[in-house]
Amino acid sequence: MSKIDEITRESWLLDSFPEWGTWLNEEIEEEIVQPKTVAMWWLGNVGLWIKTPGGANICTDLWCGKGKRTKKVKDMVAGHQMANMCGCRRLQPNLRNSVFVIDPFAIKNVDAILSTHYHQDHIDPNVAAHVVKNLDPSIPFIGPKKSVELWVKWGVPQDRCVTVKPGDVVKIKDTEIVALDSFDRTCLVTTDGYQDIRGVCPTDMDEKAVNFLFKTPGGNIYHSGDSHYSIYFAKHGKDYDIDVALGSYGENPVGIQDKMTSVDMLRMAEALNCKVVIPVHYDIWSNFMPDLNEIKVLWDLKKDRLGYKFHPFFWEVGGKYIYPTDKEKIYYHHDRGFHDCFDHEPNTPFRSIL
Ligand SMILES: [Fe+2]
Repeated sequence: MSKIDEITRESWLLDSFPEWGTWLNEEIEEEIVQPKTVAMWWLGNVGLWIKTPGGANICTDLWCGKGKRTKKVKDMVAGHQMANMCGCRRLQPNLRNSVFVIDPFAIKNVDAILSTHYHQDHIDPNVAAHVVKNLDPSIPFIGPKKSVELWVKWGVPQDRCVTVKPGDVVKIKDTEIVALDSFDRTCLVTTDGYQDIRGVCPTDMDEKAVNFLFKTPGGNIYHSGDSHYSIYFAKHGKDYDIDVALGSYGENPVGIQDKMTSVDMLRMAEALNCKVVIPVHYDIWSNFMPDLNEIKVLWDLKKDRLGYKFHPFFWEVGGKYIYPTDKEKIYYHHDRGFHDCFDHEPNTPFRSIL
Protein backbone atom coordinates (compact mmCIF):
# COMPACT_ATOMS: atom_id res chain seq x y z
CA MET A 1 0.00 0.00 0.00
CA SER A 2 1.40 3.38 -0.94
CA LYS A 3 1.61 6.30 1.48
CA ILE A 4 -1.29 8.10 -0.14
CA ASP A 5 -3.42 4.94 -0.20
CA GLU A 6 -3.12 4.75 3.60
CA ILE A 7 -4.09 8.33 4.22
CA THR A 8 -7.68 9.26 5.01
CA ARG A 9 -9.29 12.31 6.52
CA GLU A 10 -9.59 10.38 9.79
CA SER A 11 -5.90 9.42 9.77
CA TRP A 12 -4.96 13.06 9.22
CA LEU A 13 -7.12 14.16 12.15
CA LEU A 14 -5.68 11.53 14.49
CA ASP A 15 -2.15 12.25 13.32
CA SER A 16 -2.37 16.03 13.77
CA PHE A 17 -4.79 16.58 16.61
CA PRO A 18 -4.54 17.67 19.41
CA GLU A 19 -1.82 19.87 18.00
CA TRP A 20 0.50 19.50 21.01
CA GLY A 21 -0.21 15.78 21.49
CA THR A 22 0.78 14.86 25.04
CA TRP A 23 3.73 17.31 25.22
CA LEU A 24 2.11 19.51 27.87
CA ASN A 25 0.62 16.56 29.79
CA GLU A 26 4.16 15.20 30.10
CA GLU A 27 5.63 18.59 31.04
CA ILE A 28 3.12 19.04 33.86
CA GLU A 29 3.70 15.50 35.15
CA GLU A 30 7.49 15.95 35.09
CA GLU A 31 7.47 19.32 36.84
CA ILE A 32 8.83 19.18 40.38
CA VAL A 33 7.45 22.26 42.10
CA GLN A 34 9.97 23.79 44.47
CA PRO A 35 9.01 24.72 48.05
CA LYS A 36 7.29 28.12 48.44
CA THR A 37 6.51 28.33 44.73
CA VAL A 38 3.52 27.46 42.58
CA ALA A 39 3.55 26.35 38.94
CA MET A 40 0.84 27.30 36.48
CA TRP A 41 0.13 26.51 32.85
CA TRP A 42 -2.24 28.35 30.54
CA LEU A 43 -4.38 25.76 28.80
CA GLY A 44 -6.05 28.22 26.40
CA ASN A 45 -9.11 30.43 26.91
CA VAL A 46 -9.22 30.69 30.72
CA GLY A 47 -8.10 27.11 31.32
CA LEU A 48 -5.54 27.03 34.11
CA TRP A 49 -3.54 24.16 35.56
CA ILE A 50 -2.06 24.77 39.00
CA LYS A 51 0.56 22.46 40.53
CA THR A 52 1.88 22.99 44.05
CA PRO A 53 4.90 21.79 46.02
CA GLY A 54 2.56 19.49 47.99
CA GLY A 55 1.55 17.79 44.74
CA ALA A 56 -1.87 19.35 44.31
CA ASN A 57 -2.93 19.35 40.64
CA ILE A 58 -5.92 21.61 40.15
CA CYS A 59 -7.52 22.03 36.75
CA THR A 60 -9.85 25.00 36.26
CA ASP A 61 -12.05 25.81 33.25
CA LEU A 62 -10.22 23.45 30.90
CA TRP A 63 -12.28 23.52 27.73
CA CYS A 64 -11.61 21.26 24.76
CA GLY A 65 -14.38 22.32 22.42
CA LYS A 66 -14.77 24.26 19.21
CA GLY A 67 -16.32 27.42 17.89
CA LYS A 68 -18.22 27.82 14.64
CA ARG A 69 -17.21 25.39 11.89
CA THR A 70 -19.76 25.96 9.19
CA LYS A 71 -21.68 28.85 7.65
CA LYS A 72 -24.69 26.68 6.90
CA VAL A 73 -26.58 27.56 10.09
CA LYS A 74 -27.50 31.23 9.83
CA ASP A 75 -29.10 32.11 13.16
CA MET A 76 -28.36 31.67 16.87
CA VAL A 77 -30.54 29.42 18.96
CA ALA A 78 -33.32 31.36 20.67
CA GLY A 79 -32.30 32.47 24.15
CA HIS A 80 -28.56 32.55 23.44
CA GLN A 81 -26.95 35.04 25.80
CA MET A 82 -25.65 37.22 22.97
CA ALA A 83 -29.08 37.26 21.31
CA ASN A 84 -30.61 38.18 24.69
CA MET A 85 -27.93 40.81 25.27
CA CYS A 86 -28.15 42.79 22.05
CA GLY A 87 -31.24 41.61 20.24
CA CYS A 88 -29.30 40.04 17.40
CA ARG A 89 -30.30 36.90 15.54
CA ARG A 90 -27.45 36.20 13.13
CA LEU A 91 -24.87 33.64 14.21
CA GLN A 92 -21.74 35.22 15.66
CA PRO A 93 -18.55 34.25 13.76
CA ASN A 94 -16.70 33.02 16.85
CA LEU A 95 -14.21 30.59 15.35
CA ARG A 96 -11.80 28.92 17.78
CA ASN A 97 -8.44 30.55 17.34
CA SER A 98 -6.22 28.72 19.88
CA VAL A 99 -4.51 25.39 19.36
CA PHE A 100 -5.20 22.47 21.67
CA VAL A 101 -2.21 22.30 24.00
CA ILE A 102 -3.37 19.48 26.25
CA ASP A 103 -4.91 16.09 25.59
CA PRO A 104 -7.78 15.68 28.08
CA PHE A 105 -7.73 11.91 27.65
CA ALA A 106 -4.05 11.74 28.60
CA ILE A 107 -4.52 13.43 31.98
CA LYS A 108 -3.25 11.08 34.69
CA ASN A 109 -2.75 13.03 37.91
CA VAL A 110 -5.41 15.54 38.82
CA ASP A 111 -6.88 16.28 42.24
CA ALA A 112 -9.85 18.47 41.33
CA ILE A 113 -11.76 19.64 38.26
CA LEU A 114 -13.15 23.15 38.63
CA SER A 115 -15.53 25.26 36.60
CA THR A 116 -16.15 28.97 37.21
CA HIS A 117 -19.45 28.87 35.34
CA TYR A 118 -21.54 26.83 32.97
CA HIS A 119 -20.95 28.64 29.67
CA GLN A 120 -19.71 26.14 27.13
CA ASP A 121 -16.13 27.45 27.03
CA HIS A 122 -15.58 26.93 30.79
CA ILE A 123 -16.74 23.36 31.41
CA ASP A 124 -16.01 20.35 29.27
CA PRO A 125 -17.72 17.00 28.71
CA ASN A 126 -14.54 15.37 27.33
CA VAL A 127 -12.63 16.18 30.50
CA ALA A 128 -15.57 14.97 32.59
CA ALA A 129 -15.83 11.72 30.61
CA HIS A 130 -12.15 10.89 31.00
CA VAL A 131 -12.00 11.75 34.70
CA VAL A 132 -15.17 9.79 35.50
CA LYS A 133 -14.34 6.75 33.36
CA ASN A 134 -10.59 6.44 33.77
CA LEU A 135 -9.33 8.18 36.90
CA ASP A 136 -9.64 7.92 40.69
CA PRO A 137 -13.33 8.05 41.73
CA SER A 138 -12.49 10.40 44.59
CA ILE A 139 -11.56 13.33 42.28
CA PRO A 140 -14.16 16.04 42.91
CA PHE A 141 -15.90 18.33 40.42
CA ILE A 142 -16.15 21.76 42.02
CA GLY A 143 -18.26 24.64 40.74
CA PRO A 144 -21.39 26.76 41.20
CA LYS A 145 -24.86 25.15 41.14
CA LYS A 146 -25.38 25.53 37.38
CA SER A 147 -22.01 23.97 36.55
CA VAL A 148 -22.80 21.04 38.85
CA GLU A 149 -26.20 20.61 37.21
CA LEU A 150 -24.48 20.41 33.81
CA TRP A 151 -21.90 17.85 35.01
CA VAL A 152 -24.70 15.72 36.49
CA LYS A 153 -26.70 16.01 33.24
CA TRP A 154 -23.63 14.69 31.38
CA GLY A 155 -23.39 11.71 33.75
CA VAL A 156 -20.98 12.81 36.47
CA PRO A 157 -22.27 11.17 39.69
CA GLN A 158 -23.91 13.73 41.97
CA ASP A 159 -21.76 12.60 44.90
CA ARG A 160 -18.61 13.52 42.95
CA CYS A 161 -19.78 17.14 42.72
CA VAL A 162 -19.14 19.94 45.21
CA THR A 163 -21.47 22.92 44.79
CA VAL A 164 -19.81 26.13 45.93
CA LYS A 165 -21.05 29.66 46.44
CA PRO A 166 -19.09 32.77 47.44
CA GLY A 167 -17.44 32.27 50.81
CA ASP A 168 -17.12 28.49 50.56
CA VAL A 169 -13.69 26.95 51.04
CA VAL A 170 -12.46 23.61 49.70
CA LYS A 171 -9.10 22.18 50.76
CA ILE A 172 -7.06 20.20 48.22
CA LYS A 173 -3.77 18.94 49.71
CA ASP A 174 -1.63 22.04 50.47
CA THR A 175 -4.02 24.43 48.73
CA GLU A 176 -7.17 26.20 49.90
CA ILE A 177 -9.69 27.11 47.24
CA VAL A 178 -11.95 30.01 48.18
CA ALA A 179 -15.05 30.57 46.07
CA LEU A 180 -15.76 34.29 45.60
CA ASP A 181 -18.35 36.47 43.91
CA SER A 182 -18.34 36.45 40.14
CA PHE A 183 -19.14 39.60 38.17
CA ASP A 184 -20.04 37.87 34.93
CA ARG A 185 -23.05 39.90 33.86
CA THR A 186 -23.24 37.88 30.64
CA CYS A 187 -24.33 35.01 32.90
CA LEU A 188 -27.19 37.15 34.16
CA VAL A 189 -28.64 37.46 30.66
CA THR A 190 -28.15 33.76 29.94
CA THR A 191 -31.40 31.84 29.99
CA ASP A 192 -32.20 28.13 29.76
CA GLY A 193 -33.70 28.26 26.28
CA TYR A 194 -35.82 31.28 25.43
CA GLN A 195 -37.31 33.09 28.41
CA ASP A 196 -38.65 36.63 28.47
CA ILE A 197 -36.50 38.29 31.14
CA ARG A 198 -37.44 41.88 30.32
CA GLY A 199 -38.27 43.63 33.59
CA VAL A 200 -36.96 40.71 35.66
CA CYS A 201 -34.23 41.60 38.14
CA PRO A 202 -31.79 38.66 38.31
CA THR A 203 -30.48 37.65 41.73
CA ASP A 204 -28.97 34.27 40.89
CA MET A 205 -25.34 35.16 40.06
CA ASP A 206 -24.00 33.00 42.91
CA GLU A 207 -25.74 29.95 41.44
CA LYS A 208 -24.43 30.65 37.97
CA ALA A 209 -20.83 31.71 38.44
CA VAL A 210 -18.03 32.10 40.97
CA ASN A 211 -14.48 33.40 40.98
CA PHE A 212 -11.79 31.33 42.68
CA LEU A 213 -8.88 32.28 44.92
CA PHE A 214 -6.21 29.58 45.19
CA LYS A 215 -4.19 29.97 48.38
CA THR A 216 -1.04 27.99 47.61
CA PRO A 217 2.35 27.75 49.35
CA GLY A 218 3.79 29.83 46.48
CA GLY A 219 1.22 32.62 46.52
CA ASN A 220 -2.45 33.41 46.06
CA ILE A 221 -3.86 33.10 42.56
CA TYR A 222 -7.12 34.88 41.67
CA HIS A 223 -9.11 33.36 38.81
CA SER A 224 -11.88 35.73 37.75
CA GLY A 225 -13.67 33.41 35.32
CA ASP A 226 -15.48 35.61 32.82
CA SER A 227 -16.07 38.43 35.29
CA HIS A 228 -16.67 41.86 33.87
CA TYR A 229 -15.17 44.83 35.72
CA SER A 230 -16.79 45.39 39.12
CA ILE A 231 -16.21 47.87 41.92
CA TYR A 232 -16.37 44.82 44.23
CA PHE A 233 -12.93 43.71 43.04
CA ALA A 234 -11.74 46.27 45.58
CA LYS A 235 -13.45 44.34 48.39
CA HIS A 236 -11.78 41.11 47.30
CA GLY A 237 -8.51 43.03 47.28
CA LYS A 238 -9.12 44.15 50.84
CA ASP A 239 -10.25 40.74 52.09
CA TYR A 240 -7.41 38.71 50.56
CA ASP A 241 -3.74 39.03 49.71
CA ILE A 242 -3.67 38.45 45.96
CA ASP A 243 -0.40 37.81 44.18
CA VAL A 244 -1.46 36.91 40.65
CA ALA A 245 -4.81 37.77 39.04
CA LEU A 246 -6.16 36.43 35.76
CA GLY A 247 -8.70 38.50 33.87
CA SER A 248 -10.79 37.76 30.79
CA TYR A 249 -9.68 40.29 28.20
CA GLY A 250 -11.07 40.89 24.74
CA GLU A 251 -12.20 43.41 22.16
CA ASN A 252 -15.98 43.47 22.43
CA PRO A 253 -17.80 43.69 19.08
CA VAL A 254 -20.14 46.68 18.78
CA GLY A 255 -23.38 45.92 20.62
CA ILE A 256 -21.70 43.51 23.03
CA GLN A 257 -20.31 43.82 26.56
CA ASP A 258 -18.74 40.53 27.53
CA LYS A 259 -14.97 40.82 28.07
CA MET A 260 -12.87 43.24 30.09
CA THR A 261 -11.13 45.97 28.09
CA SER A 262 -7.50 47.03 28.61
CA VAL A 263 -8.72 49.79 30.95
CA ASP A 264 -10.83 47.28 32.89
CA MET A 265 -7.84 44.95 33.25
CA LEU A 266 -5.74 47.69 34.83
CA ARG A 267 -8.61 48.83 37.07
CA MET A 268 -9.16 45.21 38.18
CA ALA A 269 -5.48 44.73 39.02
CA GLU A 270 -5.35 48.02 40.93
CA ALA A 271 -8.54 47.20 42.86
CA LEU A 272 -7.44 43.65 43.69
CA ASN A 273 -4.11 45.07 44.85
CA CYS A 274 -2.38 42.18 43.10
CA LYS A 275 1.26 42.03 42.11
CA VAL A 276 0.85 40.55 38.64
CA VAL A 277 -2.11 40.71 36.27
CA ILE A 278 -2.43 38.23 33.42
CA PRO A 279 -4.85 38.71 30.54
CA VAL A 280 -6.46 35.50 29.29
CA HIS A 281 -9.45 34.50 27.14
CA TYR A 282 -8.43 36.92 24.35
CA ASP A 283 -6.76 34.06 22.49
CA ILE A 284 -9.80 31.96 21.81
CA TRP A 285 -12.45 33.73 19.71
CA SER A 286 -11.69 35.10 16.28
CA ASN A 287 -14.30 37.85 16.68
CA PHE A 288 -13.05 39.12 20.06
CA MET A 289 -9.33 39.44 19.34
CA PRO A 290 -7.75 42.53 20.93
CA ASP A 291 -4.34 44.13 20.64
CA LEU A 292 -2.37 42.93 23.66
CA ASN A 293 -0.05 45.95 23.44
CA GLU A 294 -2.94 48.13 24.51
CA ILE A 295 -2.54 46.89 28.11
CA LYS A 296 1.23 47.50 28.03
CA VAL A 297 0.88 51.02 26.57
CA LEU A 298 -1.80 52.04 29.09
CA TRP A 299 0.14 50.48 31.98
CA ASP A 300 3.26 52.43 30.95
CA LEU A 301 1.16 55.56 30.67
CA LYS A 302 -0.52 55.27 34.06
CA LYS A 303 1.79 53.36 36.39
CA ASP A 304 3.87 56.28 37.64
CA ARG A 305 1.02 58.75 37.98
CA LEU A 306 -1.26 56.30 39.79
CA GLY A 307 1.52 54.48 41.63
CA TYR A 308 0.64 51.05 40.35
CA LYS A 309 2.13 48.29 42.45
CA PHE A 310 1.45 45.63 39.83
CA HIS A 311 2.66 44.87 36.37
CA PRO A 312 1.13 42.85 33.55
CA PHE A 313 2.44 39.49 32.43
CA PHE A 314 1.79 38.56 28.81
CA TRP A 315 1.57 34.79 28.62
CA GLU A 316 1.35 32.31 25.74
CA VAL A 317 -1.10 29.43 25.54
CA GLY A 318 0.65 26.28 26.75
CA GLY A 319 3.24 28.32 28.66
CA LYS A 320 4.43 27.71 32.22
CA TYR A 321 4.62 30.45 34.86
CA ILE A 322 6.20 29.86 38.24
CA TYR A 323 5.38 32.25 41.03
CA PRO A 324 7.29 33.95 42.57
CA THR A 325 10.28 32.73 40.52
CA ASP A 326 8.99 34.42 37.32
CA LYS A 327 7.49 37.39 39.17
CA GLU A 328 9.55 40.07 37.40
CA LYS A 329 8.81 38.81 33.90
CA ILE A 330 6.59 40.94 31.67
CA TYR A 331 6.59 38.73 28.58
CA TYR A 332 6.55 34.97 28.25
CA HIS A 333 8.45 33.17 25.56
CA HIS A 334 8.35 29.45 24.89
CA ASP A 335 11.60 27.55 25.35
CA ARG A 336 13.72 28.37 22.29
CA GLY A 337 15.69 25.12 22.54
CA PHE A 338 19.19 24.38 21.16
CA HIS A 339 20.71 24.72 24.63
CA ASP A 340 23.28 22.02 23.76
CA CYS A 341 24.61 23.76 20.65
CA PHE A 342 28.30 22.96 20.02
CA ASP A 343 28.28 20.25 22.65
CA HIS A 344 29.18 18.09 19.63
CA GLU A 345 31.28 18.81 16.56
CA PRO A 346 29.03 20.39 13.87
CA ASN A 347 28.70 18.53 10.59
CA THR A 348 29.35 21.40 8.19
CA PRO A 349 31.87 21.90 5.39
CA PHE A 350 33.88 24.41 7.44
CA ARG A 351 33.46 26.31 10.74
CA SER A 352 32.71 29.77 9.36
CA ILE A 353 30.03 28.61 6.90
CA LEU A 354 27.11 30.10 8.86
FE1 LIG B 1 -15.85 32.54 28.30
